[in-house]
Amino acid sequence: MQYGGVERQIFATAEEIAAEAARIISDEIASHDQLLLGLAGGSTPHATYTKLADASIDWGGVTTWMTDERWVPPADADANQAMIRSTLHTSGRIRFLAPNTRLELPEAAASRMTRAMRCLMNRRPSRAVTILGMGDDGHTASLFPGTRALTDTSVGYLANWVPRFDTWRLTASFGLLAAADVTLFLVAGEGKAEAVARIAAGEELPAGVVTAGERVVWLLDEGAASLL
Ligand code: 6PG
Repeated sequence: MQYGGVERQIFATAEEIAAEAARIISDEIASHDQLLLGLAGGSTPHATYTKLADASIDWGGVTTWMTDERWVPPADADANQAMIRSTLHTSGRIRFLAPNTRLELPEAAASRMTRAMRCLMNRRPSRAVTILGMGDDGHTASLFPGTRALTDTSVGYLANWVPRFDTWRLTASFGLLAAADVTLFLVAGEGKAEAVARIAAGEELPAGVVTAGERVVWLLDEGAASLL
């Protein structure tokens, strides 16, 4: 189903979502010299990274980057970058850009990440593809409903205070996410069904207002699509 550059595909299981996402990403990497690949935390993206790690991919022209991070040390069990490093086996194999959460202030980590991302974008990669998840409240990356980052119009990385968790998060802004040619939302489970249906009905939950240059593709399992 396609409406204004946004399409939805429904799969029986989360495993099938991961397989399709890995297939799309492998094809994108194979057909572009220099590709920027934005990566999300979360369980549904995790299954995709496991598949990508096992696939035969030439990572030479790919630079991966984190679309958000928790304000915890890089090797913490809660750090998205720790999950990605260990699942995708980035070390010595895949260029990987993640916020430096060892710095004292989240704002400093966000500014550095903004500079690094601008540098990457100035080199004009031939393609930018981003993977995102969505929480049951409709957040994506660390753009949570009601938080300050939602009103930020910059193209960069932000430190975003999230009252719901009483913590800082680092996140790509909507402007930075919009720089992708293709964005894949990987969303599984009945817990997400209400937010999926609200977004499909036009409500502006954070995940629903993400745009991309070419297309935004929602890969849903039957649970997440059950209220459509
Ligand atoms: C995070 C994520 C977040 C995640 C969604 C979905 O750091 O929490 O980047 O945006 O992608 O919460 O997560 P699940 O796929 O685990 O539900």
